[in-house]
Amino acid sequence: MNRIDLAGRTAIVTGAVKGIGRAITAHLQAAGAQVIAWDIDADGLAAMADTVAGHAVVDIADGGQVRAAVETAVNAHGRLDILINNAGIVGPPTAALAYPEDAWRQVVDIDLTGTFICCQAVAPQMVAAGYGRIVNIASIAGKEGTPMLAAYSAAKAGVIAFTKVLGRELAETGVIANCVAPAAIETDMAHNQDPEVLRLMIEKNPMKRLGTVDEVARMTAWLASADCSFSTGAVFDLSGGRAGH
Ligand SMILES: NC(=O)c1ccc[n+]([C@@H]2O[C@H](COP(=O)([O-])OP(=O)(O)OC[C@H]3O[C@@H](n4cnc5c(N)ncnc54)[C@H](O)[C@@H]3O)[C@@H](O)[C@H]2O)c1
Repeated sequence: MNRIDLAGRTAIVTGAVKGIGRAITAHLQAAGAQVIAWDIDADGLAAMADTVAGHAVVDIADGGQVRAAVETAVNAHGRLDILINNAGIVGPPTAALAYPEDAWRQVVDIDLTGTFICCQAVAPQMVAAGYGRIVNIASIAGKEGTPMLAAYSAAKAGVIAFTKVLGRELAETGVIANCVAPAAIETDMAHNQDPEVLRLMIEKNPMKRLGTVDEVARMTAWLASADCSFSTGAVFDLSGGRAGH
């Protein structure tokens, strides 16, 4: 059987407390990786503290917090092989022309700038070691543009473009960076959306269902492994056949 082997690897997973990040954490651990969980949810982190190799309360949009947490992780583990940029928010479902500027800035700050900050803080350790795997969790919204989710769609399109740049800039270093673009996945984030938006997402899906967190985690674990070796700056669909490009 072809199994993903992450034995001896150290991974940071952002937004690890619940949803997709929680499932990714479990799959990386099952493959043998030591996972350091980052999240803004201090209580959630405390509740899972015994199950992970390390944890830190980190707001990914805050460069100072991210850099301090990277230093702590490097001091504790000596190496960082894998970075999964998963933390994100959707923002209020609002028509683009009425979209509040402060909500726009918050979504872009966390989803796009936070991903950039974490990559910039972690990748230099990987480049120095000559090995690294970065997986950014984007969204099909970043390819299609989801009505009522202007800031989220724009931020995730930014994550896709940034991953392409990072992958190409680091292509000769041994560090590869890819992103995944899931359609609606069965998590709190999906269920907290406007029910009509969610109904349309399921209706638009050729498989007529939501994806599961395990489906995202399985692809992410492969992208985080040495088995993924000739792909970088790429976008991997998880859309039940919905994505046409
Ligand atoms: N659920 C979906 O349908 C879906 C579809 C496509 C893409 N995604 C993406 O997958 C990722 C995870 O989504 P989810 O559905 O599991 O979300 P979720 O809301 O269930 O979990 C997100 C986690 O991120 C944490 N977080 C939020 N802001 C943070 C910050 N500033 N710093 C650190 N941690 C922070 C939260 O505390 C939470 O634990 C997101 O990037 C999301 O955009 C989700």
